[in-house]
Amino acid sequence: MNDLVNRKIPDGPGKEVQVQRIFSEIAPRYDLLNHLLSLNIDKIWRKKAIRALEWERKNTGRYLDSCAGTFDLGLELVRQNAFAGLVVSSDFALPMLKRGLHKITSEIFPVCGDALCMPFPPGTFDGAMVGFGIRNLADLEAGFGDLARVLRPGARLVILEFSVPPNWILRKLYHFYFHNVLPIVGRILSGHAWAYTYLPESVRDFPDPQELGKKLLKAGFKEVTWRFITGGVVTIHVAVR
Ligand SMILES: C[S@@+](CC[C@H](N)C(=O)[O-])C[C@H]1O[C@@H](n2cnc3c(N)ncnc32)[C@H](O)[C@@H]1O
Repeated sequence: MNDLVNRKIPDGPGKEVQVQRIFSEIAPRYDLLNHLLSLNIDKIWRKKAIRALEWERKNTGRYLDSCAGTFDLGLELVRQNAFAGLVVSSDFALPMLKRGLHKITSEIFPVCGDALCMPFPPGTFDGAMVGFGIRNLADLEAGFGDLARVLRPGARLVILEFSVPPNWILRKLYHFYFHNVLPIVGRILSGHAWAYTYLPESVRDFPDPQELGKKLLKAGFKEVTWRFITGGVVTIHVAVR
């Protein structure tokens, strides 16, 4: 049991299997824990991410929600009044998609697939978003490469991801919450021994916004920007294909 609680997931092919397993296992409680552990602020984060997508430039377009989970980010887009396009919501954990199916509308098309080799031709999408998923990829470069491939030139990519607050007081509070409160509440409510230990560890091991920006540029994106929200607990990255 302790072995499981302290489990680390290194990058590489094994990570794919582990991540797929975690999300498949916590799927029944994912939405509840998401809203509870973020004190419902996750809804505000998603709204801000959709604003950053600038979908109004092509409101009839085709948009990708990669690592879509239970569809919340895609749903936020299709709820926008002037939106008249469609969203392809892709995830490799089938139980996550199944869990969210009851929420979706006819503008959302679920696809079960791997973000590292997506089943779409080049230039398919007018924009893409990844909410709290990019950190889970076993090979970040390959993930960015495939996102660049499926976006048409000029399309925007928005990444919403946890980060570490720059302010030291906030950082201390954040570390206390992330490493002491969240794993315990997560374990009790999800019934999963180590999924919510993996979460803070994966945030800690994830590249900072500057590093991530460099990787996006290397993958062929331009106009790479990022901004902290909620004091840097979360970062919104924007890049143009
Ligand atoms: C933290 S959840 C985020 C779900 C959703 N985007 C949200 O905002 O709540 C991360 C999701 O990424 C998915 N994921 C991780 N790696 C993936 C990959 N290589 N291909 C497809 N989905 C992946 C997981 O299955 C999981 O559903």
